[in-house]
Amino acid sequence: MQLLDGTACSQQIRQEIALEVEAIVAAGKRPPHLAAVLVGDDGASQNYVGMKVRDCEEVGFGSTTVRMKASTTEAELLAKIDELNSNDAIDGFIVQLPLPSQINENNVILAIDPKKDVDGFCPENVGNLSLGLPTFVSATPNGIMELLRRYEIETEGKHCVVLGRSNIVGTPIAVLMSRNTNPGNATVTLAHSRTKNLKALCASADILIVAIGRTEFVTADMVKDGAVVIDVGQTRVPDNTRKSGFRNVGDVDFEQVKDKCSYITFVTGGVGPMTRASLLQNTLKAYQRR
Ligand code: GUN
Repeated sequence: MQLLDGTACSQQIRQEIALEVEAIVAAGKRPPHLAAVLVGDDGASQNYVGMKVRDCEEVGFGSTTVRMKASTTEAELLAKIDELNSNDAIDGFIVQLPLPSQINENNVILAIDPKKDVDGFCPENVGNLSLGLPTFVSATPNGIMELLRRYEIETEGKHCVVLGRSNIVGTPIAVLMSRNTNPGNATVTLAHSRTKNLKALCASADILIVAIGRTEFVTADMVKDGAVVIDVGQTRVPDNTRKSGFRNVGDVDFEQVKDKCSYITFVTGGVGPMTRASLLQNTLKAYQRR
């Protein structure tokens, strides 16, 4: 079994980006700038946004965190998005999800200028992804593709089972893995809560990508010998032995599954850091396109 080391891989990507930023600044231009909008005080979201901002600092990007209270109305958030859309000093921005229940997420995503949508969530970017046109691929699927690419994992003709059909992860990774690219060219099954014979289906996968949001859902009997297993899940569970009071648990029972795999990711050092590196790549792309 080989661990797919997202921390090391993302470090390499950050170094590549930092070099590009150095060249931009040496040419007398301003560096790329990312803004992140955080509505409310969800602990995990605060943590994610904090890490995204630190990543920006590390590679030399400018960054702005826009904090809005939990009682923010949809109209107030849409007004803020308008401001960011027309602010020339900002190349790209994200609105951290989930949002408080009084705000309709779709309305928010629709309001973001596709040219600044570095999350790749808006219809134009999702449509371009489906058509294989230049786009911002959302960060988690892009990070998974990058991990497969950098480890030179053979995907052509392989059976790839994606567990979970979310707009952010499952659906776009299924599209990307089926495209005529490398990595890609896989035969993809997109499985979800209504899929029949899920265990047997997963056990037939050469590549199993799990984004179902249920802790330790994938057990050893669901994994074929020699499979590549990518765990996108990251759920906080209470843990009094930790200073933070919680630990992150994936959707795969790592201890049970690891010895059956040819490659596997581990939660916190796998897909997570790759997602963050992808956001930096997209921000650089947004900057270069302007
Ligand atoms: N919440 C969980 N993942 C993401 C992400 O990739 N982008 C945003 N904006 N919110 C998220």
